[in-house]
Amino acid sequence: MITRIVNAEEGLDEAVSLIKSGELVVFPTETVYGLGANAYDAAAVKKIFEAKGRPQDNPLIVHISRVEEVRDIARDIPDVFFTLAAHFMPGALTVVLPRSERIPDIVTAGGDTVAVRMPKSPVARELIARSFPLAAPSANRSKHVSPTSARHVFDDLDGRVPLILDGGECEVGIESTVLDLTSGEPVILRPGAVTAQMLAPFLGVAPGSGKVIGTAKSPGMKYEHYAPTADAYAASSPAVAALFYDKCVKEGRRPVLLFGEGKAAELGDRERISLGESVDDFMHSVYSALRTAEKEHDVIIVEMLEGEGRAASVMNRVMKAVGGKVL
Ligand code: TXA
Ligand code: MG
Repeated sequence: MITRIVNAEEGLDEAVSLIKSGELVVFPTETVYGLGANAYDAAAVKKIFEAKGRPQDNPLIVHISRVEEVRDIARDIPDVFFTLAAHFMPGALTVVLPRSERIPDIVTAGGDTVAVRMPKSPVARELIARSFPLAAPSANRSKHVSPTSARHVFDDLDGRVPLILDGGECEVGIESTVLDLTSGEPVILRPGAVTAQMLAPFLGVAPGSGKVIGTAKSPGMKYEHYAPTADAYAASSPAVAALFYDKCVKEGRRPVLLFGEGKAAELGDRERISLGESVDDFMHSVYSALRTAEKEHDVIIVEMLEGEGRAASVMNRVMKAVGGKVL
């Protein structure tokens, strides 16, 4: 199969036809690129798992273009969903709800719940509005780092998908927050740019009450994905990073440092890929930096951020990428 990258607006008509004929299309979102198929078509959705090499026990997110579409995807939808939707949709929030009968087993991995998200990208939403809700995981090969550009997708899925809609670099840079509303108390299954602190006021959790939104693991979090192909470590300080870097060089390895500008001065002239100035810059650029680093280096040393909220969300992904290895 020939894989083409086409400007998102220009490729929209073709993308609609492909989805309607049961094929896959890669589309941009503000978090990471998605590999989409008609969510109502089990045979089309099966192709997603084949293209990615993804285990079938890991359920997919269904992407919608308007809040009201949720009624086709889910049932017994609690009022709080609509409150959250009013504040965070479109956006980097995925909500797990009881599943409607229209959604085939392959989307939910046979489970009784379904994950729903409305992406920000106008092209993604137009594609959905003109075809079907799209079941879509991140558009990487299973276990690799999620893609934040069309080029990243091509590197992983060349020959496996017909069309990649190129919408430029993803603004957020890590996958959406997954919030489960089906297990009594709201539970964050995967942290992201929409943080517990941002969600709390709408979930009846008073700030300062000591009560927090629960956390648990989504089915996908048990897999060691998001990992680069090079040996990767998280560094608890610039000093240990510099020491380990120098040791690697002595051993004839080719290390690189992934650090923000704040700590750059402490790293001297060692080779570094910048993760920018702020936590949001770090989040935006870390996956892209991991993909750049693995091409030319065999050791990747990533800065560890302290703090809650988005810093903790991005560290969740860094810890995955380094397989828990901390210097
Ligand atoms: O930002 C994102 O969420 C991107 C873009 C493309 O929307 N999508 C994405 O999909 O990251 P994926 O498949 O790579 O990750 C979906 C996560 C997995 O951890 C999966 O286990 C979890 O959501 N998930 C999906 N359906 C679920 C369900 N019914 N219950 C609990 N977790 C679910
Ligand atoms: Mg993924």
